[in-house]
Formats: sequence, C-alpha cells, structure tokens
Amino acid sequence: MLEKIKETAGFIGSIIKDTPDFAVVLGSGLGKLQDEVEAIHTLEYSVIPNFPQTTVAGHSGKLIYGMLEDKKVLMMSGRFHYYEGHSMETVVFPIRVFHLLGIKNLILSNASGGVNPDYRIADIAIVKDHINMMPEHPLRGKNIDALGPRFVDMSEPYSRRMISAAEQVAAENNIRIHQGIYVALQGPTFETPAEYGMIKAIGGDMVGMSTVPEVIAARHMAMDVFCISVITDLGGPDIAFSVSHEEVLNAANKAMPDVISLVKGLVKAYQILP
Ligand code: HPA
Repeated sequence: MLEKIKETAGFIGSIIKDTPDFAVVLGSGLGKLQDEVEAIHTLEYSVIPNFPQTTVAGHSGKLIYGMLEDKKVLMMSGRFHYYEGHSMETVVFPIRVFHLLGIKNLILSNASGGVNPDYRIADIAIVKDHINMMPEHPLRGKNIDALGPRFVDMSEPYSRRMISAAEQVAAENNIRIHQGIYVALQGPTFETPAEYGMIKAIGGDMVGMSTVPEVIAARHMAMDVFCISVITDLGGPDIAFSVSHEEVLNAANKAMPDVISLVKGLVKAYQILP
C-alpha cells in the first residue's frame, strides 16, 4: 500500500513540482468551488496511477492544482465513498497521497442531513467534532508506521485554529454558520425517521456518508483538518419529509456562494504554520 501511495504522490509531484498549502476535497454538489481555482494543472483521475474512479452523479473525477486567493491548493473534485463499494483503504488513499506530497492542511466539504432544530436547509455548519459509526475503520490492520502511530490521538479532530479563522471570516462576511457534530453512517440509504432520532439522541447535529474516514487518516498523519458541511435536508423522528439526491444537490447549490466566500476567506486569512 505504501509503495502505491508513494508512486501516486511521485507522479503528481513530478507534474505540480511544488508543495500545496492546502488540499481541498469537494463534497456532493459543491463542485463549483473548482471554478474559483486559477488552475495550473488539471489531472483526470483516469491518468493518475492507482487512483480509483468515482461513480456518483454530482462528483466529477479531477484533481486540480492551482491558486485560490494567494494560496496553492490541490483540489479533489470527486471523492470516494465507502458505500460505492470501495475499501476504506481506497477511500483514504488520496489523503495519504496528499500527505506524501507534503500538504499539512486539509479542507473537507460535504452535504449532510440536519437533525439540530436550529438548522435550516442550505445552512452551513462547521464540523467541530464527529461520531464515527461507519462499519469499518480505515486504520484497521497492520499499522503503516511510516504514516503515523498505531494509536491515534483524536482530541482535536478538527483544527481549532482553522475553525476560529473561519468563524472570523463568517462574521466579517455576514455568513450564518453553525458549529456542529457530524455523525458518519455508511449509507447509501438516507436515514429513517427513527435513525435521524438516534443521531440526535447520541449528540449529533448532522449526518452524512463521508468525511470521517478521511479525517481519521489525516489525523493519523498529523494533518490539520477543517470541514465545512452544507445542510441539504432535515430529518428527525417527527419529520416525514422525503429526501432525494437531487434535493441534496439543489440545496448544496443554494449554499454555494457562502461556501465559496468562506473557503476563499479561510485560505486567504489562515496563517500557514512552518
Ligand atoms: N443523511 C445522510 N447523508 C446525507 C444526508 C442525510 O440526510 N443529506 C446529505 N447527505
């Protein structure tokens, strides 16, 4: 596995010939952020050695290297989900490649279902913590010592520095944001009313089918993580609204201007640590 990660990082590194300040992973319906990047190189996943292919509508399959504001970013348009049938190793593969490229800061995004009564459709929630209820763990099996330790500290899964920088950007730009706890389930079904009730009861504010394996792999390698979640639907034991992938994409689209302002503001304002 390590050899494959090295081979892929070597390939990408030989093209971009630089160390990006941030890696950014675009979630469902959030692909428009890629248009904000002044692209220097665009690589289809199909030309990158060992890179899997995405299978989900609303997720393209491109790695874009370029400038966002005054920072160098490597943007992944199209992520890999466990529900697609990928192994956890595959789901976190790009994150490990980012680490070997020398990237220290990871910005993730996703669409999620809100269970917090203060949340409205198309709101933005910064993920401050998560509860992992995926059925498999990305670090299960022999530890790859070259990447990180066997037992990983998870006391600060999401960078407090990045969260406070984002809070400031949101305040300056009048963007309504929450801070919430993201519960990860495997999907691909959306939740039943009783399941949304469970998410709320265990302390979650929102639920989704991605992100957490990537956060775990990133923290294993001591990368700093920031995650922005767009609330695309609301669920609860007493809420009988139906939800479809199309509605998720529509709500994500509605939130896009704020997502763009927040991510651009964050990369601009954030002081990269040496
Ligand atoms: N549940 C799980 N995943 C999701 C949801 C949801 O309600 N909305 C967007 N992704």
